[in-house]
Amino acid sequence: MSGLKTGIIGCGNISPAYFKATAQLNDLDVVACADLNMDAARVRAEEYGVRAMSVDELLADPEIKLVINLTLPQAHAAVNTAILNAGKHAHCEKPFAITRDEGKAVLALAEEKGLRVGGAPDTFLGAGLQSARKIIDDGLIGRPVSGTAVMACPGHESWHPNPGFYYLTGGGPLFDMGPYYITALIHLLGPVRRVTALNSRAFSERIATSEAANGKVLPVEVDTHVTGILEFHSGAVITMIMSFDVKKHSSHNIEIHGTEGSLKVPDPNHFHGENLIANGPKDDWRAVPLIHPYADNMRGIGAADMAAAVRSGRAHRCNGEMASHVLDVMHALGESSDSGQHRTITSTCAQPAPLPADLVFGELD
Ligand SMILES: NC(=O)c1ccc[n+]([C@@H]2O[C@H](COP(=O)([O-])OP(=O)(O)OC[C@H]3O[C@@H](n4cnc5c(N)ncnc54)[C@H](O)[C@@H]3O)[C@@H](O)[C@H]2O)c1
Repeated sequence: MSGLKTGIIGCGNISPAYFKATAQLNDLDVVACADLNMDAARVRAEEYGVRAMSVDELLADPEIKLVINLTLPQAHAAVNTAILNAGKHAHCEKPFAITRDEGKAVLALAEEKGLRVGGAPDTFLGAGLQSARKIIDDGLIGRPVSGTAVMACPGHESWHPNPGFYYLTGGGPLFDMGPYYITALIHLLGPVRRVTALNSRAFSERIATSEAANGKVLPVEVDTHVTGILEFHSGAVITMIMSFDVKKHSSHNIEIHGTEGSLKVPDPNHFHGENLIANGPKDDWRAVPLIHPYADNMRGIGAADMAAAVRSGRAHRCNGEMASHVLDVMHALGESSDSGQHRTITSTCAQPAPLPADLVFGELD
């Protein structure tokens, strides 16, 4: 492999998806992994043929130039800071940080060190959302004016072995799943100008039923039902629901309504999915064929895009400015609900460039 030598910090539940996907991407060469829990690091190292190290050893290794941070939300900013201080590029799981100030400090440190920083989600680089972007950019639904974004489920305590963090500050449906939806919307529509919201929480504590955590009482520190409205600089206005308080629903993940038609966008938590468009109330929804090769679970492709960008000098798509803008929007939704007022978003970011149409599987340029 000739890709950028890469280490992974955080060897928990999501890490296998990263090991599997990055092994298929030419720009990254994952050579080592680390975790506070050395046993977790050893298990992944054995499974995926890399070296297990302590976090300090990985950060001190001069061969490693990029680190993927798959720790818990509460540790993201501190681990990103340690990675950058070790002179390595950092790509982080979502959310980018817990507070806006932590996120801004990480951005400033990367700038000072001349290093790249960025983060998940990278699902918008998948075939589903890249195809949706082309549909909008090609004008098939006209100018986007409105839409809906809905993620509603009963929460993660029925399946996750360690679900407590989903109900602590930095978790909840907004900070857990909101990044997928808000990032997808920025990819499709550009940055957010203003938001308003009304939020609630159905329970003050929850009981885990997953096999590993069965019966554990989980304190709830955050709102678990968020109803927001996002106004984009483009003028589009999107109604958003992010909820862990819904047993079942039948709303589509994301719909965008334009002056000439409507688009059903695939689930932004995945790389695949079908784009459906209709141009009038009597039209049947019709599927638009997917473009781009990345239709499988390719978590880590954002880090590979960073590595490709380091090589060529271009901007990386899953960049810190966008991740920090998403964090700002999520905080503003909470503040709007608490204050009863709209919140103007002071941060912004560039709409990420679409992937080239003629990409070969494994490549990002
Ligand atoms: N599980 C999923 O399906 C999923 C999907 C997408 C994104 N994510 C995100 O990925 C991140 C990790 O989630 P997970 O489900 O793998 O959690 P997990 O609890 O299964 O694993 C987290 C791992 O990070 C380690 N860790 C924590 N703090 C650390 C530190 N300071 N230094 C080194 N290691 C540390 C823990 O020991 C643990 O092994 C979260 O931000 C989550 O939102 C998870």
